[in-house]
Amino acid sequence: MDASVLAALAALILASIFLLSKQRSSAREDHRRQQLPPGSLGLPVIGQTLGFLNALRSNTAEAWLRQRAATHGPVSRFSFLGVPTVLIVGPSANKFFFSSPGLTAKTTMAANRMVGKRNIRELTGSDHRRVRAMFVKFLKLDAVRGYVASIDDEVRHHLSTEWRGHATVAVMPSMKSLTFDIMCTAIFGLDRGAHAAVRQKLSVEFQQLVRGTLSVPLNLPFTTFRKCLAASRRGRQTVARIMEEKRAKLERGEISPSDDLMTHMLSEGVADEDIIDNVIFMMLAAHDTTAILLTFLIRHLDNNRDVYTRVVAEQEEVARSKAPGESLTWDDLGKMRYTWAVAMETLRLVPPVFSNTRRVVDDVEFNGHLIPKGWQVMSAVNLTQWDPAIFPDPDKLDPTRFESPLPPYSFVAFGGGARVCPGNEFARVEALVAMHYIVTGFRWKLAAGCDGSFSRYPMPSPAQGLLIDIEPIWG
Ligand code: HEM
Repeated sequence: MDASVLAALAALILASIFLLSKQRSSAREDHRRQQLPPGSLGLPVIGQTLGFLNALRSNTAEAWLRQRAATHGPVSRFSFLGVPTVLIVGPSANKFFFSSPGLTAKTTMAANRMVGKRNIRELTGSDHRRVRAMFVKFLKLDAVRGYVASIDDEVRHHLSTEWRGHATVAVMPSMKSLTFDIMCTAIFGLDRGAHAAVRQKLSVEFQQLVRGTLSVPLNLPFTTFRKCLAASRRGRQTVARIMEEKRAKLERGEISPSDDLMTHMLSEGVADEDIIDNVIFMMLAAHDTTAILLTFLIRHLDNNRDVYTRVVAEQEEVARSKAPGESLTWDDLGKMRYTWAVAMETLRLVPPVFSNTRRVVDDVEFNGHLIPKGWQVMSAVNLTQWDPAIFPDPDKLDPTRFESPLPPYSFVAFGGGARVCPGNEFARVEALVAMHYIVTGFRWKLAAGCDGSFSRYPMPSPAQGLLIDIEPIWG
């Protein structure tokens, strides 16, 4: 056979192989596309970002997500901040979300820049387990039991300086400052006396740092992000100075690893950067969430008088068993079951963490749909916790829902699985102690002009910080 015929034949065979493999890969692509959850990713990069951000700002995010779920079902795709996102809803979706090895926790780019990228949310595998074990050591039941007296002291101090003698209080800022102070004392050993100045400095930088985690990550002159980054740097320097003091004291034998989380991390040889990132993360995770819970508890008790009356009765009974000025004890908290049920119901209605997200590290499948590597999955906490099939009359405050066990993964305000919030017991103690002194010490009502409405960006934030008029009950 002539060489040119041979060459033509070879070219034909190669072209056929190429076409066939292209056809195969495009068939594979088509098959993958068909397996994707319903919905659309919208315009490139922009996707549905503007619509969802607007909904968050105007507190219509639930309606926005509910509309998607109604149109596409419990699994659907959209695009948020340039990332293809799969929205999942319902208890079985939550179970998948919290237990699938193909998914891992993530924080936003802005949060990573503010907090530091070695924070626990970014750690995986043995790194995550190691840091988490250190956190848990200071947050498990036995440890939390030991914090009741200092939390009691912080709450009483706060109410006597920030509430007593005032006619009106902005609840949210007040609760943020209270939970920040509690965190400093209980977990980091920075008490009010010796460390007042350092606490004050940290608190100021922290307000900025929190704003930064929610800002658009544009590091340009005059952007909020840049201002907040500067605050984050100053906050880190303060934390680093505290760490150096503790290191010196530890070496001189003046403090012990069991005294506080930071000293424990130092004694375990954790790298300095990792300690700073995680201390900052812990402060962030701990104070806003519990402050939101307390704020909405106060709001709900104001417009649910039956529930309020039962809470007051429970707390007054505890108060009657105490001598004047005596601190609450762990046993007293055990008698506050109804108050805690109201707190859980508040967390069901207004979960501080409105949606959880996970990064997809390996292609995963859920409900017959493919969720590709590199995408993210969003579990819409609110939608499950407001599902009328699980919680009849979902918008009604009904603490009795928590009197019997709920279906697994239907109440997920504290998350679930290997990353379930390790601070839930700590939050319980803070909330119960604070509510005890608030309901036995004050009567309140929304101040004129404050309608109790709130927005989410993405954490719930009441209009005017929830202004209330207060009146002391005790002398
Ligand atoms: C009402 C109060 C609180 C709520 C609603 C809350 C909620 C949550 C949620 C939803 C998560 C994510 C779970 C997941 O991704 O599966 C989380 C994680 C976390 N929370 Fe909380 N939290 C609260 C209070 C606290 C407190 C008081 C602390 C510390 C004292 C704390 C420390 C943490 C930490 C360290 C993590 C990360 C756990 C990990 O990634 O392994 N939280 N929290």
